[in-house]
Amino acid sequence: MKRNPTVAIVGATGAVGAEFAATLEKRNFPVGKLVALASARSAGKTMDFRGEKVVIQELTERSFDGVDIALFSAGGSISRKYAPIAVKAGAVVVDNSSAFRMDPNVPLVIPEINPQRIRDHKGIIANPNCSTITALVPLWPIHRKNRIRRMIISTYQASSGAGAAAMEELVESTRAHLEGRRYEPKVLPHPYAFNVFSHNDTIDLETGYNGEETKVIKETKKIFEDDSIRVGITCVRVPVLRAHCEAITIECDNPIGENDVRRILSDAPGVKIVDDREKNYFPMPIDASGQGDILVGRIRRDVSDPTGHSVAMFVSGDQLLKGAALNAIQIAEYLL
Ligand code: A2P
Repeated sequence: MKRNPTVAIVGATGAVGAEFAATLEKRNFPVGKLVALASARSAGKTMDFRGEKVVIQELTERSFDGVDIALFSAGGSISRKYAPIAVKAGAVVVDNSSAFRMDPNVPLVIPEINPQRIRDHKGIIANPNCSTITALVPLWPIHRKNRIRRMIISTYQASSGAGAAAMEELVESTRAHLEGRRYEPKVLPHPYAFNVFSHNDTIDLETGYNGEETKVIKETKKIFEDDSIRVGITCVRVPVLRAHCEAITIECDNPIGENDVRRILSDAPGVKIVDDREKNYFPMPIDASGQGDILVGRIRRDVSDPTGHSVAMFVSGDQLLKGAALNAIQIAEYLL
């Protein structure tokens, strides 16, 4: 890899695309040149990078000539079509979509967990789903000390996971609701203001699980390299702009107490404990937004398991950062 690589952002006008640019800048990633790509609709607009305006270009098959690293976040179908083209042109792709995550030839990486997999890449490295990353960053150090055999997760997912247009829909529909105006949802399937609904990903009519839930189940097994781990999950959208929350209960092979979890997480990379019972202060999206760490609190014994093998916790992480752009750029840093 060149010392000052040319970096392309595919989906530069999107919610994650903007965070790619901001995170590259914040982490002093040694970008030689930034290539900003989006649809024809956005060609000619600009994005800010290191105090300059970068002109957005239409994504075409020729966009990757001279590109060393391509960060993709424009949806699965764009990745499926253009990631192989980028690889052919000589770029290494870090893909934020679900297109290649379960491909056995594609590493699925959370740098705090399995950075060693990055070197196995054949041109594409996949970034996991945001709910997967948010849960697994704090669970991995526990799993290493006392194997997690079962986890049960309920998510509280922000609008950012559905893209910039969904964030706008949350703001606009809230404004309309407060002003007593009617608002027809355009991006999400249900009214978003002052409402909670099952995650909008496609639901499997037979199993009753939606796509988001299936992603977390499968990706956890791949990243932990443990096919026998049992994952139960319910994914829900809540009217929060960015940063997801998750209520997580884990059952371990050996007995585990809340202080064991606190001790393990106190120096775990990418984790910050926010667990003040006296002040009733625990992880919140408002605090998690804009920071790279996953906040972990409500750490307590699961009283429904009298054997002492289970603990519960509540976590919050910025979906656009650790759940997407930051994780991808941490992967890219390993390529340097
Ligand atoms: P555009 O704004 O030009 O539509 P989000 O995840 O926030 O919804 O963003 C999706 C990103 O994917 C946007 O940058 C969007 O660009 C981009 N995108 C969508 N469709 C295409 C396409 N056909 N070609 C290139 N980029 C696309």
